[in-house]
Amino acid sequence: MRLDVFTLFPAAFEWYVTQVHVRKALELGHELAFTNYRDHTPLSHLQVDDTPYGGGAGMVLRIDVVAAALEAAFGVGAPAVRESRRVVELTPKGRQFDDRLAEELAEGDLVLLCGRYEGIDERVAHLVSDRVSIGPYVLSGGEVAAMAVSDAVLRKLPGVISNPESLVDESFAPGLEGGTEYPQYTRPAEFRGWTVPEVLVSGDHGAIARWRAEQVRRAAGGTD
Ligand SMILES: C[S@@+](CC[C@H](N)C(=O)[O-])C[C@H]1O[C@@H](n2cnc3c(N)ncnc32)[C@H](O)[C@@H]1O
Repeated sequence: MRLDVFTLFPAAFEWYVTQVHVRKALELGHELAFTNYRDHTPLSHLQVDDTPYGGGAGMVLRIDVVAAALEAAFGVGAPAVRESRRVVELTPKGRQFDDRLAEELAEGDLVLLCGRYEGIDERVAHLVSDRVSIGPYVLSGGEVAAMAVSDAVLRKLPGVISNPESLVDESFAPGLEGGTEYPQYTRPAEFRGWTVPEVLVSGDHGAIARWRAEQVRRAAGGTD
């Protein structure tokens, strides 16, 4: 897949791109590109934002700047970009991100538009296919949201997580019927009087599987 992130702060991703699963995705031939809106602004003095019509606090990221950046990156008119890929505006007003949406977004190429200030001019609706929120709270910019979304999406690509077994019982996976993972423990078996459940050190794989299934059911609010 090709994943494009549009941002005013590409440096925010410097640590992220060094992470092992991101590097693995690149090794597998997937592409990750960052475009700084400011590098493509048609306005003088590298301007990217303006005051809101109607008054009010803050500044709004301009639609002509966002369109120019999309056109520079893809070489087609900005509204046409969404014909070949999902174009996602990251915004607290969007559809709440979850594992199912991560699966969906991993199916093809993807563009993530990070907002800043009071957000992007509402006419961005003419350019996007989706509006996505990572939760009901307000971040200062879309960069953290873009990292959360791209992280969950890249994990869905075959081969990115080197041990596929770790995905089988992962929270929300079909193996757990959409539930969250059972509790995990490692050595030492006893620490400050805190022990691990005996069944996990029993060597009885059937009993361990039953115990884990029971934990998943309990976390989902099941009674048995
Ligand atoms: C300060 S926020 C803008 C908030 C906007 N004025 C509002 O009240 O909904 C600036 C940018 O951060 C990003 N952002 C903030 N919260 C987010 C969230 N929960 N999910 C996704 N992106 C978010 C968006 O890209 C947004 O354009």
